[in-house]
Amino acid sequence: MGCGNMFFSVLITFSVALITYNIIISANAPLKQGFPGPSTGSLISVDPIIKMPVDRSKSAKPTSKRLFHTAVTASDSVYNTWQCRIMYYWFKKFNYILMAEPDHIIVKPIPNLSRDGLGAAFPFFYIEPKKYEKVLRKYFPEHKGPVTKIDPIGNSPVIVGRESLKKIAPTWMNISLAMKKDPETDKAFGWVLEMYAYAVSSALHDVGNILYKDFMIQPPWDLKVGNKFIIHYTYGCDYNMKGELTYGKIGEWRFDKRSFDSILPPRNLPLPPPGVPESVVCLILPSVPYDVVS
Ligand SMILES: *[C@@H]1O[C@H](CO)[C@@H](O)[C@H](O)[C@H]1NC(C)=O
Ligand SMILES: *[C@@H]1O[C@H](CO)[C@@H](O)[C@H](O)[C@H]1NC(C)=O
Repeated sequence: MGCGNMFFSVLITFSVALITYNIIISANAPLKQGFPGPSTGSLISVDPIIKMPVDRSKSAKPTSKRLFHTAVTASDSVYNTWQCRIMYYWFKKFNYILMAEPDHIIVKPIPNLSRDGLGAAFPFFYIEPKKYEKVLRKYFPEHKGPVTKIDPIGNSPVIVGRESLKKIAPTWMNISLAMKKDPETDKAFGWVLEMYAYAVSSALHDVGNILYKDFMIQPPWDLKVGNKFIIHYTYGCDYNMKGELTYGKIGEWRFDKRSFDSILPPRNLPLPPPGVPESVVCLILPSVPYDVVS
């Protein structure tokens, strides 16, 4: 290789490095600016609203108008910040949106279950609008109708039209914040607060939901995968070696996501003893086709 060629290679390498550097710097810059900062005079010490990059690049003047918000029922970490960007990218491309969570294991392709402008949602037994009528009336006034108009759902799993979600999302964010700032509501709803906030917002915008019980199963209570689409991996699964459920008591065989808060799950998780239901086995053997175990 002659000296000319060598120079050319070095130049190209240098240019690529420089471009890469610029991409990294410019990609990181707006991300940094947008970290939620402390806000004063509020019960919430960290601003939970993550600004979108498009917003930030135009917000040199602090008075400039916001274009949109993204509300996530998640933390404000860097990880979530870039996930929001990806979500927004896909949000713009589809007419129907599936909202799900990382502990929703999808076991078969999910069709568009929503119809006639209604959402499709999983009904949760612990979302009880009637029981919390007094609290909910703060957010769902009398003139909007009976509290039973609020579906017993959370935001996930939900399939909803993009145009409906566009209306619901900003209200959902505001109601979540209002509920969190109200001690009575915060105490009543605890960790299901954003679920109620979604259900209320959907009702406020007259977006009803088809309650779709077959959307998912929740082991260890539900035993068979059957025709369901999602395994909601939320409860710990404890069994003795006879394959009997010992819920609430650490089992000789156990699988609980909370065991892996700060460590990775081992590569070869011990298989459950015989007699453990199919739904639990499927959590451990995600690569086995479900027809084989059912
Ligand atoms: C699915 O989406 C379309 C719009 O894209 C909608 O009109 C239809 O009702 C939905 N449901 C089914 C079962 O196709
Ligand atoms: C949400 O709250 C902000 C601040 O109070 C308000 O300006 C905005 O109009 C509200 N948006 C909706 C959709 O309720």
